Amino acid sequence: MAHDHDHAHRHAHDHHHDHHHDHTDIDWAEMAEHLETQAELYTPLHEHALAWLGGKQTEPGLIVDAGSGPGVVSCMLADAFPGARVVAVDGSEPLLEMARARAERLGVADRFSTLTGELPDVMADLEYPADLIWASNSLHHLGDQQAAVAACAERLAVGGTLALVEGGLPTRFLPRDFGLGRPGLQARIDAVQEDWFSKMRTDLPDGVAVSEDWRALMSAAGLRPTGTRTFLLDLPAPAPDRARAVAAATFGRFREVFGEDLDAEDRATLDRLLDPEDEASVHRRGDLFVLTARTVHTAVRTA
Ligand SMILES: C[S@@+](CC[C@H](N)C(=O)[O-])C[C@H]1O[C@@H](n2cnc3c(N)ncnc32)[C@H](O)[C@@H]1O
Repeated sequence: MAHDHDHAHRHAHDHHHDHHHDHTDIDWAEMAEHLETQAELYTPLHEHALAWLGGKQTEPGLIVDAGSGPGVVSCMLADAFPGARVVAVDGSEPLLEMARARAERLGVADRFSTLTGELPDVMADLEYPADLIWASNSLHHLGDQQAAVAACAERLAVGGTLALVEGGLPTRFLPRDFGLGRPGLQARIDAVQEDWFSKMRTDLPDGVAVSEDWRALMSAAGLRPTGTRTFLLDLPAPAPDRARAVAAATFGRFREVFGEDLDAEDRATLDRLLDPEDEASVHRRGDLFVLTARTVHTAVRTA
């Protein structure tokens, strides 16, 4: 299992100079800093989501963060549920190393551990059934999403909750017309990104097409859906420096992964937004903000 993921990494490496849109492999370890900075920026959104989750259930004893990445939210889970042990599960060992270091820094290491392996099979390696499984933007990277939800459901204790963070709204950093290039750049990026995402999914091994109705997928796995709620991240202009860093990393990734699918004018606009020397760049402009939304779907195992 771990081998497959290593293979994916090697594959990504072999094609290091290939930035064409056909390239849908993701090198997660390479994205470590971006994942961490972004998750940190999303702290207020996650605080609201975890407070909502806490109000819905009794104190969990064991929490699993499936596809945890660098563990920012895993550590927030440890914080929000001080009686719980947290296991961060991911295919990328370098990211889990960051998660362990973070838990150490935040003083929760005594209730924190990690498990490395490929989802969804790695869920079977968990020692105990979980009272809460949190999976944020990870299941959509797996070929068979219904099987992935079922694998999570199987590892829940009776009465336990599965919380999936999937969907929401695309992030906005700039007004529709921000005085550079043709208005509506972010909407055009969304369209290209949707196509890239679909291709990423069809390129996954053992891919199965399902409609992304997470409530239905959880019901089909034998769980009882208990709620769906969307949480906003609203950081108005003037945005703090960490928001500028996230905007630069996000636009930089767009430029690299599917810049060639945008027209020359939009590519030139992106280049100006990314140039730290440019007054109009995301590093310096006054109108930069962050507005986004993420949806959490919950379901309970009843038997
Ligand atoms: C978009 S990131 C989300 C990270 C974090 N949950 C968050 O919301 O910020 C997806 C994570 O899923 C992990 N992942 C993707 N495919 C995986 C697989 N097949 N097995 C295990 N982990 C996987 C990646 O390593 C990455 O850390």
